[in-house]
Amino acid sequence: MEKTVMKPINVGLLGLGTVGGGTLTVLRRNATEITRRAGREIRVTMAAVRDLDKARPYASAGLALTNNPFAVVDNPDIDIVVEMMGGISPAKDLILMAIENGKHVVTANKALIANHGTEIFAAAQKKGVMVAFEAAVGGGIPIIKAIREGLTANRIEWIAGIINGTTNFILTEMRDKGAGFDEMLKEAQRLGYAEADPTFDVEGVDAAHKLTIMSAIAFGIPMQFERAYIEGITQITGADVKYAEQLGYRIKLLGITRRTAKGIELRVHPALIPARRLIANVDGAMNAILVKGDAVGPTLYYGAGAGAEPTASSVVADLVDITRMHTADPHNRVPHLAFQPDALSDEPILPMDEVRTAYYLRLRALDKPGVLADVTRILADLDISIDAMMQKEPHEGEEQVDIIMLTHQSVEKNINAAMTKIESLPAICGKIARIRLEQLGK
Ligand code: NAP
Ligand code: HSE
Repeated sequence: MEKTVMKPINVGLLGLGTVGGGTLTVLRRNATEITRRAGREIRVTMAAVRDLDKARPYASAGLALTNNPFAVVDNPDIDIVVEMMGGISPAKDLILMAIENGKHVVTANKALIANHGTEIFAAAQKKGVMVAFEAAVGGGIPIIKAIREGLTANRIEWIAGIINGTTNFILTEMRDKGAGFDEMLKEAQRLGYAEADPTFDVEGVDAAHKLTIMSAIAFGIPMQFERAYIEGITQITGADVKYAEQLGYRIKLLGITRRTAKGIELRVHPALIPARRLIANVDGAMNAILVKGDAVGPTLYYGAGAGAEPTASSVVADLVDITRMHTADPHNRVPHLAFQPDALSDEPILPMDEVRTAYYLRLRALDKPGVLADVTRILADLDISIDAMMQKEPHEGEEQVDIIMLTHQSVEKNINAAMTKIESLPAICGKIARIRLEQLGK
């Protein structure tokens, strides 16, 4: 039988930095394999950057370089626009314009999707085009596809993940080499892992963007980034990393979203995880995401969470998906948020004060009788029970000691109240270090 040769799909790139450059490299290197999979050639015909000189290494016949990104979204020959510039402006306007012009969109921009996804998906639905964002979460791990399609039979109960490569890299190096925070952040920037504004990484904002997206597709709720609880890793000290290890735990920046009877938890913060869990051994810039479905049980997804080609792997997967679905009836496509747009739920996000979890507390106290009794009385009065306790010997000539406590599960507002009371005791020196503790067992 004679084979019909399909017209190539023309792609316009917005950005040729870490991810954009990686995408072009992978598309070029694996062109034959990708065409065999997609059913037609996917070719990049136009790319926009700010600095044309920096983009010269990518120049080739058939690729027009411009410093005007609007020329890409307005080009009638472009079928798919791939946004890899980052930030909200002008990325949002460019994407909305591309949609308005009838183009499909692929983006790696989690900040944009978490903050403006609802508006973008509505515009795409109206125009019958696709907006794909696999690269926005977990770098090269196909987690969006797994949650949205592979686990579609399940009522998802919770998701917990290491979803920021930069902070996992910093925490790993602090633990293994005793390296300094600032030095490791610079290294993560050099390796292309960090966001343009690295405070997004270290303060947990980037992880919260990704968690917001996963929560929306897992539970069929709108994107609610503004309701996420966010705490980064800047308060984690070498001492906490060391004490956690001594107690059999690792400290990781976790994103957790969980369905509870009172609402949906949506929180990013450092957490102690039992060292025996697979996820506690995910090191460097690697990411791992645990998804618990009612039918399948816990499933774990692991891979490179940042960097040029791992992220490009996800971008190209979206390009192939769109190329295959290009001519399909829009009603037969997988919905952007996994659930039909008119079937989204209004389940509330649970305020952080109401979240129940366990805690690691490190107090610095004067080494004298009665201090521990005062502390434990305050905890007991607030219904907080202690699971384990460790008191370190004072250093020579010092009168203060470190006391480390692990609590059983308690309500966050009770822990906050207990910390305020304990900090006001005359024998307690300075602030209490508080890190949440997650068993991640069931
Ligand atoms: P990047 O290396 O800074 O690259 C950004 C690119 O966009 C550069 O080519 C830049 O051009 C271009 N650009 C920025 N603003 C522009 C404008 N107004 N007009 C034209 N071109 C513009 O950033 P990246 O690390 O690739 O990240 C891109 C996106 O992917 C972000 O949304 C990020 O969150 C996301 N992401 C990154 C990773 C990662 O590992 N890096 C992983 C997953 C997702 P010039 O170089 O000429 O300024
Ligand atoms: N800055 C992000 C990270 C890039 O470190 O995980 C990948 O999304």
